[in-house]
Amino acid sequence: MADQQQVYPVPDEWKRRAKVDAEGYETLYGRSIADPGSFWLEQARRLDWIKRPEIAGDWSFDESDFHINWFTDGKLNVAANCIDRHLASRGAAPAIIWEPDDPNEPARRYAYLELHQEVCRFANVLKAEGVEKGDRVTIYMPMIPEAAFAVLACARIGAIHSVVFAGFSPEALAGRITDCDSEFCITADEGRRGGKRIPLKANVDAAADRAPALKKVIVVQATGGDVAMKEGRDVWYHHVAESVSDDCPAEVMGAEDPLFILYTSGSTGKPKGVLHTSGGYLLWASLTHELAFDYKEGEIFWCAADIGWITGHSYILYGPLANGATTVMYEGVPNWPDASRIWQIVDKHQVNTLYTAPTALRALMAEGDQPVKATSRASLRLLGTVGEPINPQAWRWYYDVVGDGRCPVIDTWWQTETGGHMIAPLPGAHDLKPGSAVKPMPGVDPQIVDADGNVLPGATEGNLVIAKSWPGQMRTVWNDHDRFFQTYFSTYPGKYFTSDGCRRDEDGYYWITGRVDDVINVSGHRMGTAEIESALVLHEKVAEAAVVGRPHDVKGQGIYAYVTLNSGVHPSDELRDTLKQWVRKEIGPIATPDALQFAPSLPKTRSGKIMRRILRKIAEGDTSSLGDTSTLADPSVVDHLVANRVA
Ligand code: PRX
Repeated sequence: MADQQQVYPVPDEWKRRAKVDAEGYETLYGRSIADPGSFWLEQARRLDWIKRPEIAGDWSFDESDFHINWFTDGKLNVAANCIDRHLASRGAAPAIIWEPDDPNEPARRYAYLELHQEVCRFANVLKAEGVEKGDRVTIYMPMIPEAAFAVLACARIGAIHSVVFAGFSPEALAGRITDCDSEFCITADEGRRGGKRIPLKANVDAAADRAPALKKVIVVQATGGDVAMKEGRDVWYHHVAESVSDDCPAEVMGAEDPLFILYTSGSTGKPKGVLHTSGGYLLWASLTHELAFDYKEGEIFWCAADIGWITGHSYILYGPLANGATTVMYEGVPNWPDASRIWQIVDKHQVNTLYTAPTALRALMAEGDQPVKATSRASLRLLGTVGEPINPQAWRWYYDVVGDGRCPVIDTWWQTETGGHMIAPLPGAHDLKPGSAVKPMPGVDPQIVDADGNVLPGATEGNLVIAKSWPGQMRTVWNDHDRFFQTYFSTYPGKYFTSDGCRRDEDGYYWITGRVDDVINVSGHRMGTAEIESALVLHEKVAEAAVVGRPHDVKGQGIYAYVTLNSGVHPSDELRDTLKQWVRKEIGPIATPDALQFAPSLPKTRSGKIMRRILRKIAEGDTSSLGDTSTLADPSVVDHLVANRVA
């Protein structure tokens, strides 16, 4: 409790220079809720429209009339908003600074003018290879500038990009290609991370065997590594690029035309294709980037995420570029070649705002203060975190050691589905409390409800819902509009259910307490326990599996799997390793179980439902309070599990 009462006031000097102060926030927020129509049409002016919209939000969360549209009558091109409109005023200013994995290699910088040429050329290569407006293009790329060019090139010609994180396995990639019927894939020969190489093209080859939809693979030469090229299917990007122009008109898009699909995990079934559209998404990315990061012209902004996640989409690319910022893109990992790398990059590129995940901070914190103190970090002005709850200890380390007590730390809560920040402090407006995401962004109407959907007032705790639509909201699950409605709008009719638990304190500050469904958060990566279970039961020796999360010092949550083997199969350490590797192969390294326990059977109710509450407690080692086990079909199962728990 002591932690939660500790308040870090924003320094006066900071408040004076901030774009929005406390009064400014109240006015902005008040108007956004009282008169959303005129508020959003006014905000829409921050974008460059081919046809300016006259309608703001047109939506209903009710089942009988369910629809979500924003700025429907507006026309624009997202890539032109991120590039072309800046050319006259800041064409020579750096748009992207790229830092390679190996610190001894030179960084690359692209001015807005150069970005324009690169994106146009990439767009023409896509056209030359047959990509048309509305086609789905899978992007499976390392963190190199060409990944940004590819994304923006899709936006320029109206193709729908589906970026798949390069750490996913061929199996996971194939599933995502097939789900959205993507005929095109952009990849690189290899990726590099922490001095290691990742065989991306070989992974695409393996995925292609299971993804018949795939017709064309465009391969960027990143490392020069040896790869096989399949005649008629694979082309080298640099070969096609030689013969295309570096000018490409931007397609006129409706505000509600799809911009991208991004797959994310839910509590059941396969990952779902979250669909974001053009106008509302870009407006949201741009507005939240400016407000939460108090972005000012000329600043250097570094979001240390991967473009394979929504954080990379919204805050490496779309938000900063829409605002004409300089965005840093880093190929490598935080702790290679050593634990000082992040801070060295901050100094090297004079980064003003750093945005990263609590898991990275906890890992770096474990290395002590010296790697941080060996660097200056004087350019830093603001620090941000995202992806999982930040423990107050990590927050204070970020504030005191990294920021030398000078830089506000903003904890931003949002989701793939929300497009951008939903609850986050505005650093010039709000005093900070370590571990709290503070207050809603303009237009966001959060409510805390109990299990029956009753709205709980004042200081309280319950489930977090959002009562009104906002422009950055996802519009559907690709190919499954019914799943969209069922997942988010059926639990609490008329409201968007976040699946997060939340507390609101006496000051109206919001504290996210974590997922209330079967989604776990491992190192800031969102994972469905059902997906890992499906991967496990695909193995011929496995009869049944149940996966839960348990607290982990660095990762936030670790993956704990209970596995029942087929009869006649004997448990062994070797089989345990085999099964962990199996999951790694099926999904990717981020899904590898931290612990795997063989269970002759799982605790089930008499109707056959697995009692996950008990499995979670056993995994956590909290076996003294397993609660009522009398409803179990066979209570003795629990004793066996407790006795054989993996520490
Ligand atoms: O549980 C919340 C957690 O991450 C989930 C969303 O994951 P994803 O769609 O992968 O997006 C991550 C990046 C936006 C949420 O449901 N989460 C995200 N940010 C925070 C957080 N939990 C607590 N505090 C946060 N700041």
